[in-house]
Order: sequence, then structure tokens, then C-alpha cells
Amino acid sequence: MIHQKNQITKSPDLSINIGPLRLKNPVLLASGTCGYGAELDGLLDLDLLGGIIVKGISIRPRPGNPPPRLVETPCGLLNSIGLENVGIESFLRDKLPWLRNVKTSLIVNILGNSVEEYSEIAKKLDGAEGVKAIEVNISCPNVKAGGIAFGTDPEAAANVTRAVKKTTGLPVIIKLTPNVTDITKVARKVASAGADAISLINTLLGMAIDIKSRRPALANVFGGLSGPAIKPIALRMVWQVVRAVDIPVIGIGGISTPDDALEFLMAGAKAVEIGTATLVRPGTAEDVPAGIRYYMEANSIQNVEDLRLPDQQTLNPVRYPSFPIEGLPMQPL
Ligand SMILES: Cc1cc2nc3c(=O)[nH]c(=O)nc-3n(C[C@H](O)[C@H](O)[C@H](O)COP(=O)(O)O)c2cc1C
Repeated sequence: MIHQKNQITKSPDLSINIGPLRLKNPVLLASGTCGYGAELDGLLDLDLLGGIIVKGISIRPRPGNPPPRLVETPCGLLNSIGLENVGIESFLRDKLPWLRNVKTSLIVNILGNSVEEYSEIAKKLDGAEGVKAIEVNISCPNVKAGGIAFGTDPEAAANVTRAVKKTTGLPVIIKLTPNVTDITKVARKVASAGADAISLINTLLGMAIDIKSRRPALANVFGGLSGPAIKPIALRMVWQVVRAVDIPVIGIGGISTPDDALEFLMAGAKAVEIGTATLVRPGTAEDVPAGIRYYMEANSIQNVEDLRLPDQQTLNPVRYPSFPIEGLPMQPL
């Protein structure tokens, strides 16, 4: 609800709950674009953020894909890093101690190639001091199902959700892939399988060709597209998922400014993650809570959740003629 200016008595409240997890503001760093936090030390003040989501962790270390594995595109970035990471043991031993000193919520992103692998990592994180939640990347190939990504099969996505929920007491955020026809089907399944929250979107599958060498620009041929180019798609999917499930939704995709973040919060996201923009300018995320606060003050909005648009305001349906006219293309009236 947007209050009248004279009703505001205290400064805006940016704190939010993602299920059982309380965040001081709704701005987080997205997995894979902020390393294990320490890489950004001195480049931005992590303490100003609602949370940090570290690079996806697997059971064993992964070397990732061969280079080239990053290509810039108009308004976007294609990556085929291949989920390179240090593995859970090294993460707990070498990375977590530094992260414990940061005054923001630490969320660990996990990945696996089988339901058992996801459970095993979740179990190792359960009770790890300083870890506040788990974000589950379900864009990974399910080896037992011939390599189909878990996140493109609603049943497989639900199985991962149930298995992770069973092995950890930490809040579980399931991160959806946009590479599906109807994202609400997967969202509903993971919500009913017990997810505490959903985050979306991961990258969109794409490719680029280097016309000089006449080869695909990425050694892996395909990669994931991120950055401003994907923001309208991400926003549309967040809008759909917010209206399909009853659990909190975190919006991700091309967010580079406070205005971008506000769009996602207005679509109904409880929080946002900033990814590629950090690679362009590491301090980007730090400006976003301040920009949201400024907007709330200027518009006399007390609580960040009041930014969400009411559903009826949105739907201005396109009207079609009630009788199709043969041979004529259907035009909105
Ligand atoms: C270089 C790179 C590495 C990424 N690694 C991961 C990862 O390990 N796990 C994951 O869930 N998402 C990963 N992502 C996806 C981002 O977290 C995010 O969902 C996506 O990039 C869309 O947001 P953006 O447009 O703000 O970057 C990665 C993205 C990039 C660009």
C-alpha cells in the first residue's frame, strides 16, 4: 500500500523475510559473479548488502570448461564457465572462515549431477557456522536421466527439492532455469515439494559465432546469456511465478540499477540478485539498496513489500474480435 506523504513517520524499512531467513535489505549478489566474496574485498562493501550467494559448489572440485568461455554480446554476456569451483571440502575449510566475518547473510549455491549429490552437499552444509541458507541450482544435467537438466523436468526438480529439504534444516531456495516453455509448472512443483523460496532466472541458453575464425565463439559452442539483454524475459517470468506460488520469489536477470531492481520488486519479487552487473562495475550492488530507499522516501512508501503492484492494475487485456474473420490476421482492437 502506498501511503500519503504525511503518514510516513519513520525511515523506510528495507528488511524482508525469505521464508525463515531475515535479510536487512532485498539486494543480494548472484552466484557465479562474486566468487567466494573475498575476490570483491575492497571493491564494494559487502556489509551494505542483504546477502551474498557464493559460486555454485559441487561435491568434488570442478575444473570447468576449456576456454574461450566468455563472450560479450550486445547488452549481454555469454558464459560457459562449466561450474568451475573448489568443491565442498575446500569451500568449508578455505573459503567459509573469511565469509563468516562479513556482516551480511551468506547463502551457498549448490549443484549436482544426481539427486544424491545434491543431498550430500546439503548435508555437509547443514550446521556449517555462518551459512544462512542454500540456493539450489537445478540447471545442471541429470546424469541418470541422460543429461536432461533437472530444472526442465518438473518431477526431477521436485525430487531434488524434497531430497535437499530432507537433509538440511537450512532454508532452501530453488533456482529455476528459464530454458523451459512454462516456468510456472516447475515453480508449482518445487513449491509443493517444500521449497522455502524460489529464485529465477538462471541464464538463457545461447550461442555466438566468430565470423573471422568461422568457429563458435565459445569452446563449448553453447553458453548461458545474462545481463541487461535478458531483463524483460526475467521480469515476465518473475511476474508469472509470483502469481503461481505462495512462497517468496527472488528476481534475477539483468539488474544493473536501482530502477531495474524496483521493477522486479513491483512485479512481486521479495528480493533481487545482481549478477553480470558486478562484473561490469563491482560497486553496482552497493548503490541499489540506497536507490530503493531513495525511491521509497520520495514516494512515501514505508515497507519494501508495499512496492508490489496490485494484480488488477496490471491486466489491461488485449481485446480481440469475438468472431474470427477468415483470411484476416487477428489484430488487437
Ligand atoms: C560468469 C557466470 C557464472 C555463473 N555461475 C553460476 C553458478 O555457479 N550457479 C548459479 O546458480 N548461477 C550462476 N550464474 C547465473 C547468475 O547467478 C544469474 O542467475 C544470471 O547470470 C542472470 O543474472 P544477471 O543477468 O544479473 O547476470 C552465473 C552467471 C555468470 C554470468
